[in-house]
Amino acid sequence: MSLVTLKDVLPEAQKKKIAIGHFNVNGQLWMESILQVAQEENSPVIIASSDRMADYLGGFKLIRLMLTELIKYHNITVPVVLHLDHGQTVERCIEAIDAGYSSVMFDGSHKSLEENIELTKIVSKYAHSKGASIEAEIGSVGGNEDGIIGGIKHANLNECIELVEMAKVDALAAALGSVHGKYVGEPQLEFTEMAKISSALEVPLVLHGASGIPDNQIKKSIQLGHAKVNVNTELNVAWRDALLPELTNNPTVYEPRILLENSRKAIGELVREKIRVFRTP
Ligand code: 13P
Repeated sequence: MSLVTLKDVLPEAQKKKIAIGHFNVNGQLWMESILQVAQEENSPVIIASSDRMADYLGGFKLIRLMLTELIKYHNITVPVVLHLDHGQTVERCIEAIDAGYSSVMFDGSHKSLEENIELTKIVSKYAHSKGASIEAEIGSVGGNEDGIIGGIKHANLNECIELVEMAKVDALAAALGSVHGKYVGEPQLEFTEMAKISSALEVPLVLHGASGIPDNQIKKSIQLGHAKVNVNTELNVAWRDALLPELTNNPTVYEPRILLENSRKAIGELVREKIRVFRTP
């Protein structure tokens, strides 16, 4: 099956009040375990690489090729979106689309509203002309994303409406208190504002920084219009936590395939858990 877009999977999820998992990849191990578990769970899945991760992994083309070859190799038949997470510039989004990404996020959240709208519009036009989808951001998700550290800035309802109308995006990340990376203390999501924003918009919302948000808050966010939930940090922590004992308990083993087997399983089981949470109202 060829790659699908956010438009192929999110509106239906939104109607059912469930969400599709967006999982960031850090290499083939992540991609393979996510795909296999999505297939076992018979669930659409969004495979995402951030802008900088794409460079680290050898570029957009290699990631797209790796994904499409793995889809063939493992006979994956569930719908798969390849998404650029936090595209930093118009040019990077275009580059990803030209390399075969079926979806991009243009992150203009650190710019003025006017500039965010203008740049998102350019990416939106290009994405749609190539059959790809686009996500935008209003407000600012806090924490550390891809090496860029920022504070939380809550999304403003009118700004959300204006950006969606002007730039015709397919999904909106409206920052409402979530944080990339680990939370200090209990996450504080702004549910009152979330309800207002989601009822004013037709497009599905995207929950960034889902690692560390308790399941009941995730489910409430899904009921309030989030049809895409982004997970990165928890997968990496699962990978690290499974690898550490392998290294210390087996000092003579040096084959990566053996040492990394439990990490592969840990990523897969976490993805399974998340998919089940996201689709259980
Ligand atoms: P976490 O790393 O907090 O899971 O956030 C992931 C994310 O929002 C990617 O855009």
